[in-house]
Amino acid sequence: MPDKFYITTPIYYVNASPHIGHSYTTIAADVLSRFKRKALGQERVYFLTGTDEHGQKIQKAAEAAGLLAQEFVDRTSQQFVQLWRSLNVSYDDFIRTTQPRHIKVVQQALEILYRQGDVYEGKYEGLYCTPCETFWLESQALGGLCPDCKRPVERIVETNYFFKLSNYQDWLMGYLNQHPDFIKPASRYEETLKFLELNKLNDLCISRPKERLSWGIPLPFAPAHVTYVWFDALINYISAVGEFDAQGKYRSDWWPADLHLMAKDILRQHTVYWPIMLKALQIELPKKVFAHGWWMINEDKMSKSRGNVVNPLEMIERFGLDAYRYFLLRDVPFGLDGNFSQAGIIKRYNGDLANDLGNLIYRTLTMVEKYFQGNIPAVTPGSHPIQDKIKKLPAGVAVALDEQNFSQALEFLWELIGLANKHVEETKPWNLAKENKQDELKNFIRLLVDVIRAVADQLEIFMPDTARAIKDQFEGSSIKKGNPLFPRIEIEK
Ligand code: MSP
Repeated sequence: MPDKFYITTPIYYVNASPHIGHSYTTIAADVLSRFKRKALGQERVYFLTGTDEHGQKIQKAAEAAGLLAQEFVDRTSQQFVQLWRSLNVSYDDFIRTTQPRHIKVVQQALEILYRQGDVYEGKYEGLYCTPCETFWLESQALGGLCPDCKRPVERIVETNYFFKLSNYQDWLMGYLNQHPDFIKPASRYEETLKFLELNKLNDLCISRPKERLSWGIPLPFAPAHVTYVWFDALINYISAVGEFDAQGKYRSDWWPADLHLMAKDILRQHTVYWPIMLKALQIELPKKVFAHGWWMINEDKMSKSRGNVVNPLEMIERFGLDAYRYFLLRDVPFGLDGNFSQAGIIKRYNGDLANDLGNLIYRTLTMVEKYFQGNIPAVTPGSHPIQDKIKKLPAGVAVALDEQNFSQALEFLWELIGLANKHVEETKPWNLAKENKQDELKNFIRLLVDVIRAVADQLEIFMPDTARAIKDQFEGSSIKKGNPLFPRIEIEK
């Protein structure tokens, strides 16, 4: 399909409730999807999210909850569905790795790789971290501890199936060298290349014996084993939008993905394992992998295992959905880590939303009411530098968003809002009114309305409800004044 946009989030583990970290990636994907739908049309955008439902962590969580694994994942995956609804996330497809469409493609892929010798039987001996479901090298698990979660790793020996990652290392390095834009931000690209330069890839163990783990997709050629959860999970990106034909050729209207979004914690799976899996299956690579930073709480990554998670629903209850969406995308440049705090949200809320945006709207509505009985002056204001800014706004936002630079895009918007507010203070419209300079006053007000409409147009993808509320107040030839959009939050001392 020409001119389409296929974007994905990670599929999230269902062993725990979603927190603001998960909502960050998903809201970012939502904004980009809305942006592309505006540019390309509704039908040309495919926004995929979903849940990762197999593996040991989930099996254990189900046991702890006293439920069958299937019952457990049916229940917990709904938390994500519901949260995305509450956060106004406009996904097109929600994939669950327990769905038949996914299981089918995983088994097809395994069969193909096994037949062509890219998957083979062997003995595995290694250091394994159960909570993270990851094997580590001796050099990584220093002191016998998992480098990720810092808990003890176990030594394991067993018959397993392996994927020949090692065969593809040279190819991958060549590919990366030729495609410097494949991984963003650039620091993550460098990190991946460096990793490949310094380490010889081991073949990847992609099975688990059923006696150790039963909750997974059986290998079609070795039913006493289930598929390693990461091998299973990555395939969601192709199982959602296509399948293999009888000749083993993958067919899809949407693939390749234009953008895989995630945080840096799962960079390697997406920039080493995944490209090699696709190459071995003779499937085109995604166009871009973007790994953003982490939300931290007091310098520590927010995660369930660290016990410091914040529930997005509590944030939207306190600050409103759009203030929350705004804060996440505005406060920290996409790609860097950020510190999450309610004080930080309040600062943005009172500053950018109440003082800047809210005030511009409210004072403009008030002036239209006071000077023109609620009718928006039907004039084309004479030339003014602000008009130039209005004209350039959509292109500025588009350039920033094509590079996933959300904070930059929002800065453009707020620059215009700031100019408009400054214009009010400098013009002193109350004097124009006193001196009965009707034409000047009309031009002045109309310029403000034009700014507000342009801002609302661009804001639609970031803050859909707010944009709607603004448009409702300024639609047609007369205003419909509502309540102030972002009443200041008073902080108790
Ligand atoms: N199931 C795997 C992904 C498989 S994708 C084929 C997984 N799941 S997860 O539930 O742990 O989600 C990880 C992702 O959640 C991160 O990559 C990121 O998108 C988001 N985040 C989780 N914690 C986060 C922060 N503290 N900060 C920012 N994003 C975070 O890994």
